[in-house]
Amino acid sequence: MPSRAPTVTAADFLPSSTDLDDLAAAAGACRGCDLFSDATQTVFGEGPAGARMMLVGEQPGDQEDRSGEPFVGPAGRLLDTALREAGIDREPLYVTNAVKHFKFVPAERGTRRIHKTPSRTEVVSCRPWLLAELDAVAPEVIVCLGATAAKSLLGNDFRLTAHRGEVLRLPGDVSARNDPAVVATLHPSAVLRGPAEAREDSLASLVSDLRVAAGQLRR
Ligand code: URA
Ligand code: SF4
Repeated sequence: MPSRAPTVTAADFLPSSTDLDDLAAAAGACRGCDLFSDATQTVFGEGPAGARMMLVGEQPGDQEDRSGEPFVGPAGRLLDTALREAGIDREPLYVTNAVKHFKFVPAERGTRRIHKTPSRTEVVSCRPWLLAELDAVAPEVIVCLGATAAKSLLGNDFRLTAHRGEVLRLPGDVSARNDPAVVATLHPSAVLRGPAEAREDSLASLVSDLRVAAGQLRR
C-alpha cells in the first residue's frame, strides 16, 4: 500500500543543533504525529555520542513510557540477557527506538495498556529523530531489533524473515557517516511473546545475530 508522506512530521521539530542532548530536549516537545497525546513522555535514545554500535527497537513500552528510558521493561531484560550471552556490554551502546512515543490501547478490563504496533505513517513521521541520532552517533554497526526498525532504516519492502542476521548496508537515501553495517534481527518481545517451546530457539537466533553484529565492529 503506498503511504503518502505525512504533512507534519518530526522534521518540523528538529533543532539546528546536532548535539544528542539538544536533540533529546527538542524531541520532548515533538508533536510530529498524534502519538504524543496519549503517551506520558518522549522516550529518546540513550547512550554515549561515540557509541560504535546502535540498537534500534520499535517504540517504548509501558514501563519505558513511565520511566522515559528505552528498553527497561520486560523486553529490555530479555535484551540484556541476549547481550550478555553474546558477550556484549550494554553500557557503551546507543539504544533507541524507531518511534519515540508509546502507542497503546486500553485493556478491555482493568487499567493495563496494551502495546499497539505503530503505523507506517507514524514510523515515517518519527524517522527524522532516528536519522538525527544516526548522524550524531555515526555508529559502525546498527542492529535493527524487529521489523519496524528494519523497515524504517532499510525500506518498507524489507522482509525480516528473508534477511534476518545478514550483514547489510543502508540504502542510498539514508546518509550515514561511516557506512555502518546493518544487521536486522528478532525483536526481544517476539522472543517473549512466542510459544514457550520456541523461546530457546528464538533467543539463540537473537544472540547469534548480535554476535554477527559485534563481529562487524572495526578493530
Ligand atoms: N520495545 C521496544 O521496541 N523498545 C523499548 O524501548 C521497549 C520495548
Ligand atoms: Fe514526534 Fe515521534 Fe512522538 Fe510522533 S512518535 S510525536 S513523531 S516523537
